[in-house]
Amino acid sequence: MTEIPEHLLKRSAARRGKSTGDDGGGADASASTAVEASASSGPAQPPAVVQAAAAIPRDPEPVPEKPVPAYVQASLERKKMPMWAMGIIPFCALLWAYSFAGTMQLPDVEDPLFVESAALYGSQGCAGCHGGGGGGGVGYQFSDGEIYATFPEPIDQIVHIVRGSAAIAGEEYGDSARPGGVRVAGNRGVMPNYPSLTQNELELIVFHERATLGGEDTSAPEYQEWMEHMREVAEGILPDHEIDLELFLACANPEFTPGATGDVSEDDAKKCPGPHAKEGEEVAAE
Ligand code: HEC
Repeated sequence: MTEIPEHLLKRSAARRGKSTGDDGGGADASASTAVEASASSGPAQPPAVVQAAAAIPRDPEPVPEKPVPAYVQASLERKKMPMWAMGIIPFCALLWAYSFAGTMQLPDVEDPLFVESAALYGSQGCAGCHGGGGGGGVGYQFSDGEIYATFPEPIDQIVHIVRGSAAIAGEEYGDSARPGGVRVAGNRGVMPNYPSLTQNELELIVFHERATLGGEDTSAPEYQEWMEHMREVAEGILPDHEIDLELFLACANPEFTPGATGDVSEDDAKKCPGPHAKEGEEVAAE
């Protein structure tokens, strides 16, 4: 450490005693001159001059405050989200999730059951002869309840599609009390047979013809169950089966289906295509 000469220490002590500003120097000198000058010109001198003179250089402003940058200032003044609003956020998220999930279910066109059954009706050629909307053409009309007027239950319709009309040419089929008269196979031409369709495909096509095109009431619990079953089929969750015409004839109603026995066992009744519980009970009761 270098020793500070005594005269310098004295000078700085003297300055501090005078309460000088930070840089002393020339400003200091001129200020003190001003003070002396005002003092010498008499006590009547307005003190404002003294104060002004003293204020400029020597006001002991310790550390000048750093100016706050404009962007910080802006962020401080900006309105903040109130705390109560934070609580609403999870509800908004829930509401969004709920409404989003809703849109996934709403339109039937998104439902694999409707998509698949309609696709099969087209790809198997049914639409070509019966109309895309089931209004009829070469073949009979399905819409406006026409289809379930012929076949009160899906199973008899399924048998008819598997066998076609040539196999029972000239025979009555379907509901004999049908408005417009009982159907006679071959009266309108030839309904081709479809022995190679699987059980799942048959059920889906029949559902499309009855519910989507025919407007059948689907609200019964067993019908809803059947739809749920087919929906899982359409989603590829459930396995498919080769058809078993013998089983179908046992499931079908002899009143509506030539060659049907209706003697299905209680166990086999569960395997019958169509709305299950009811189907089994009804066929067993015949
Ligand atoms: C080549 C034309 C043609 C095609 C393809 C066709 N059908 Fe038919 N379908 C007919 C004709 C014609 C009849 C009436 C036959 C008769 O007079 O027995 C008929 C009758 C029917 C009936 C009886 C309706 C009633 O009220 O009596 C059903 C059910 C049926 N068809 C379903 C289907 C399904 C399901 C498909 C597709 C898998 C299909 N058809 C494909 C021509 C066709």
